[in-house]
Amino acid sequence: MTARFKFSDSIKLIKNIKTTGTITPSSKNLVRRLLAPIDFASARCIVELGPGNGCVTQSLLKRMSEDCVLICLEVNNEFVAELNRVEDSRLHVYNACASSIREILDELNFVEVDYVVSSLPLSLIDDDVVKNILVEVDSNLKKGGRFLQYQYSLANYSDMKPVFRDIKLKFTFRNMPPAFVYECIK
Ligand SMILES: C[S@@+](CC[C@H](N)C(=O)[O-])C[C@H]1O[C@@H](n2cnc3c(N)ncnc32)[C@H](O)[C@@H]1O
Repeated sequence: MTARFKFSDSIKLIKNIKTTGTITPSSKNLVRRLLAPIDFASARCIVELGPGNGCVTQSLLKRMSEDCVLICLEVNNEFVAELNRVEDSRLHVYNACASSIREILDELNFVEVDYVVSSLPLSLIDDDVVKNILVEVDSNLKKGGRFLQYQYSLANYSDMKPVFRDIKLKFTFRNMPPAFVYECIK
């Protein structure tokens, strides 16, 4: 897997549009914005939800310290197979729904998480599943931890607001389509 844009990634995204919610991987600019709040020197456990083709995953692995672990939860088999080809002992890929964070952390013996980074297409996921995912994220983040999510609209802002202590919102035009970036603080 490379960090470069591949036409086959777009084909997979389009083929699975109902669960991916997009036709192109996130731009470098969006990924940079999304990951900006992460203190890579101190982070020891990061969870990524909906890694897809791995454009965010690659950037995380590049910047993470040697003793930080990255746990990816992805429902699409093809993307899971692609991510499993990445040779990096810090990376743990699970073919699982984002709502199963706790059981996967138990399996890997982690009590809590520093950051949860998400590309989930929240507006396409059922409301009760979104609520469940947000509760899971919040209950597994350490105090002061961050939930980092991008979205092409503010459709799920009202779901996040009551869950987190504070939310900082940014916007970038440098992505197709332009996107909001949420930094949710526990
Ligand atoms: C927009 S794509 C993100 C791809 C890549 N991270 C990026 O930013 O370009 C969203 C990904 O979320 C995955 N996904 C959708 N629902 C999910 C769920 N409930 N749990 C885990 N992954 C999910 C999709 O299969 C897809 O790969």
